[in-house]
Amino acid sequence: MMTAEQIVIAHKANVETLFGLTGLAFEGVEKLVGLNIQVAKTAMTEAAQTTQAALSVKDAQELMALQAGLLQPAAEKAAAYSRHVYEIAASTGADAVVVSNHGGRQLDGTVSSIRALPEVRDAVGDKLEVFFDGGVRSGQDVLKALALGARGVFIGKAFAWALGAMGEEGVTLALDIIRRELDVSMALCGLRDVKDASPAILRSA
Ligand SMILES: Cc1cc2nc3c(=O)[nH]c(=O)nc-3n(C[C@H](O)[C@H](O)[C@H](O)COP(=O)(O)O)c2cc1C
Repeated sequence: MMTAEQIVIAHKANVETLFGLTGLAFEGVEKLVGLNIQVAKTAMTEAAQTTQAALSVKDAQELMALQAGLLQPAAEKAAAYSRHVYEIAASTGADAVVVSNHGGRQLDGTVSSIRALPEVRDAVGDKLEVFFDGGVRSGQDVLKALALGARGVFIGKAFAWALGAMGEEGVTLALDIIRRELDVSMALCGLRDVKDASPAILRSA
């Protein structure tokens, strides 16, 4: 049996731990928001510069050279961004990250989360779990995300549409349809286990 004093001490320690963790989480969110604002600002400035450069292009060769010049820095920036995300997540003691662009509801011209997924997966390695959302509408979409390294996916608008159409029953039905589509897609790709989904089942455009 604990004395009243021991109970108070234990509670105090729990509260301190809780607030310590919450503080760490807020710190992580602040850093992520800062990083994303910086990336969005840079993306907008660069888009304006690229448009100006594209408008002053004189022939097809010049256009090809302009595009080729853009590819390398874009790949380097993506890798640097993913590394930053990993460092921030790791510094908060997080177990997992969710690759999401809010379903494209905010800055809809930024990179889609499915494009960012493999880069984040590579940067994180096997140190953190990676989850994904944005544009998941079918079982095939789930399989694509798993193939690109997600452990699992979340669903936003599809869930809301099902709820609006048929209430709770609609949500259950939508999830069931997606699950069955995932089964069929896996069978058509020759997969028995979701863990076997890899980029090998995809072909880039
Ligand atoms: C109506 C609505 C409100 C949302 N509000 C937020 C929000 O407040 N914060 C947030 O991080 N994401 C928000 N999201 C984004 C979702 O959390 C999720 O990332 C997104 O819906 C997934 O993409 P999907 O809708 O294509 O499945 C919202 C999405 C919808 C549809």
